Amino acid sequence: MSLSNRHLLGLEGVPKEDIQLILDTATTFREVLERPIKKVPTLQGKTIVNLFYENSTRTRISFELAQKRLSADTVNFSTSTSSTKKGETFKDTVRNIEAMKVDMIVVRHESAGVPKYLTKISNANIVNAGDGLHEHPTQGLLDMYSIREKTGTLEGLRVCIVGDVGHSRVALSNIFGLITMGAKVSVCGPSTMMPMGIENFGVKIYNNIDKAIAENDVLNVLRIQLERKAGQTIPSTREYHNYFGITSERIEKNNKNILILHPGPINRGVEITSEVADGPYQVILDQVTNGVAVRMAVLYLLGTMH
Ligand code: CP
Repeated sequence: MSLSNRHLLGLEGVPKEDIQLILDTATTFREVLERPIKKVPTLQGKTIVNLFYENSTRTRISFELAQKRLSADTVNFSTSTSSTKKGETFKDTVRNIEAMKVDMIVVRHESAGVPKYLTKISNANIVNAGDGLHEHPTQGLLDMYSIREKTGTLEGLRVCIVGDVGHSRVALSNIFGLITMGAKVSVCGPSTMMPMGIENFGVKIYNNIDKAIAENDVLNVLRIQLERKAGQTIPSTREYHNYFGITSERIEKNNKNILILHPGPINRGVEITSEVADGPYQVILDQVTNGVAVRMAVLYLLGTMH
């Protein structure tokens, strides 16, 4: 069994069989993470560069740990300590890294489309770790893995993505991946936070959070991306919280069986209260643990393709 593409640029158009293969392979690696020695020799001799042009805690550490758990040689690039600061272009940077014989590049960039551009200027396998407002495919995969781990299936499951959908690459990867896997996907939030043409993505749209909680099995709560000027789409974070914030009262009033996800980082008290973010309905830190296994699966499947 192998994937149908040697790069992972997004989940749009990725066949169901590929997603299934990644999630099933991740289950095997999830077991490795519970062993006293959390390491397998699978990617011994492969070299992977983590090219992060934008801040990250979870994704960067998770990819690095996944690479180390697979015994790959791993190198981290960050703009703040690189010759990018001396004016070197992105293309020159990549060609110099490529000249050091790397097999795979994991890239995060503030501009949508950079991972695809990399496939044109590099022979390495490319993995998108988040590009602008486009996609964050490994986050979508780890979200699906975490949901499936709790519910047993994605088929027919009702999943609502809540909040700042317009600024969210996580939302797009969830929408594409979950629909492919047979889930019923919806979005909920202020209309000013919805991207143009959201109705064409095959999702139901809610503007009432209580109704969304009552009618869904899973909520994936997005971060309000204040650094991307999300504040211009709402009167205030307090107003947002009053109308759309996920609180224990709302859950207990509407649906006590709901599963809550959040990709992190969390704005506590804005999109979700601390009581919910640390409470019994959520799987937020499970998502982080599962992220290592899912990234191991992606790197293994791409790194061993012929
Ligand atoms: N979920 C996520 O992408 O988090 P980071 O920005 O910390 O990687």
